[in-house]
Amino acid sequence: MDKVIIFDTTLRDGEQAAGGTLNAQEKLEIARQLEKLNVDVIEAGFPISSPGDFEAVRLIAREIRTPIICALARAAPKDIDRAWESVKEAEHPRIHVFLSSSDIHLGYQLKKSREEVLHTAGEMVARAKKYTDDIEFSPMDASRTEPEYIYQILKAVIDAGATTVNIPDTVGYAIPDEFGRLIEGILNNVPNINQAIVSVHCHDDLGLAVANSLESVKRGARQVECTINGIGERAGNASLEEIVMAIRTRKDFFNLTTDVNTTQIYKTSRLVSELTGFVVQPNKAIVGANAFRHESGIHQDGIIKMPITYEIMDPRTVGIPASSLVLGKLSGRHAFKERLAELGYSLSKADFDRAFSAFKELADKKKGITDRDIESLIAEELRTVSEVYHLDRVQISCGDRGIPTASVMLIGPEGQVLADAALGAGPVDAVYKAINRIVGVPNVLTEFAVKSVTEGIDAIGEVLIRIESKGITYTGRGADTDIIVASAKAYMNALNRLLAAKKAAG
Ligand code: KIV
Ligand code: ZN
Repeated sequence: MDKVIIFDTTLRDGEQAAGGTLNAQEKLEIARQLEKLNVDVIEAGFPISSPGDFEAVRLIAREIRTPIICALARAAPKDIDRAWESVKEAEHPRIHVFLSSSDIHLGYQLKKSREEVLHTAGEMVARAKKYTDDIEFSPMDASRTEPEYIYQILKAVIDAGATTVNIPDTVGYAIPDEFGRLIEGILNNVPNINQAIVSVHCHDDLGLAVANSLESVKRGARQVECTINGIGERAGNASLEEIVMAIRTRKDFFNLTTDVNTTQIYKTSRLVSELTGFVVQPNKAIVGANAFRHESGIHQDGIIKMPITYEIMDPRTVGIPASSLVLGKLSGRHAFKERLAELGYSLSKADFDRAFSAFKELADKKKGITDRDIESLIAEELRTVSEVYHLDRVQISCGDRGIPTASVMLIGPEGQVLADAALGAGPVDAVYKAINRIVGVPNVLTEFAVKSVTEGIDAIGEVLIRIESKGITYTGRGADTDIIVASAKAYMNALNRLLAAKKAAG
């Protein structure tokens, strides 16, 4: 059976989504999880775009050994040199060169002729080839490019050494049958195409990214570029979990396979959602909270009699824990450790100790602790942002008569204890004003959302916020059974990211 190569671009195109910025440690954490998911290629970033992204790609290239580590570059010498610098220590490095091919891009954006672009594409692939054998080339906006011209470009870049040629539907404009015919045309008309893998990269502007990708593999493409939870520029990219599970569930139709360890899908989806702050919609295929929930009586009756009546996939194949075992305050270290292992976590001794004491603290406040509570607790405890200011305590007084008042105590960069108080329009406003009086970094709150992790009045509340400073958005998350405390933690998380970015920029 033919294999489809899974090229994950969560850390590059996924991170390009507005408001989804990740720091280098967060990218590394996701890359570790992508390695467990067993994707074939990780596109780790676009190194020329910022020193932070260069550093993130380099960290990933040094540590992640099994998948190919790919760096993106425009078809320009300094981009390619920088891309190579970032991936040269990888076990399996790849450079991905892209250049627009449509007349729309050539005429309005690049202001170059077709001949010039054809020449540059070949020349830049040859430059990248001097560094490494594994070279990918993408004619950007391919789906709006005249097919004959794409054939010419692909022939030239394969002659120059490209080993993968990727066909992007950059603006999400293609329709499955039309895109499939483009792929078939490439396979039939590019004379040296058997020297390269044909790949596809689809965006979801018309909600067709997965359909276009699947149509392409049906017609002979053997690499698919996709992202976890379908995150990405504008409406996003093709969703990895949907593509992999469609190929697996409909093996009878595709007669294809992937090497993805599907039992890691759910955990990867949760991690990407936690770190990017992009909440997964409940009805999202494969990983949404309702994806395997049956509400109608007729469906429930069928499921009890035989799951196959209404369930085309076993939730355990994507790593959704089958057990609904609930832990409580009498649960010991052993039970907690076993539950963590079942959820796919293996923590160092120090991390486990921290997580266990947080679990005990939570169990004192909340009766039954579910898997979602544990996931939230782990995300909270092991958050990877290094803290400049640490929230030590927060006290609020509010109600329908008095003026909301907050006092906060923070531990500063030199370990100094810093305390202040403020009045506000509401309790969250008062807390944020008190924190601002200490930290003193101007910013604007652009998004604030609270959601409950599980059902019940004692549920953990998760707060997601976004703040903006000098045109850059920083995301913060916090979780607690008290939503004002969760709000304070989320604000500190976002502020610490802002301060870390400020420090990195000098
Ligand atoms: O959408 C696109 O065209 C891209 C390229 C860089 C491959 O992301
Ligand atoms: Zn893209």
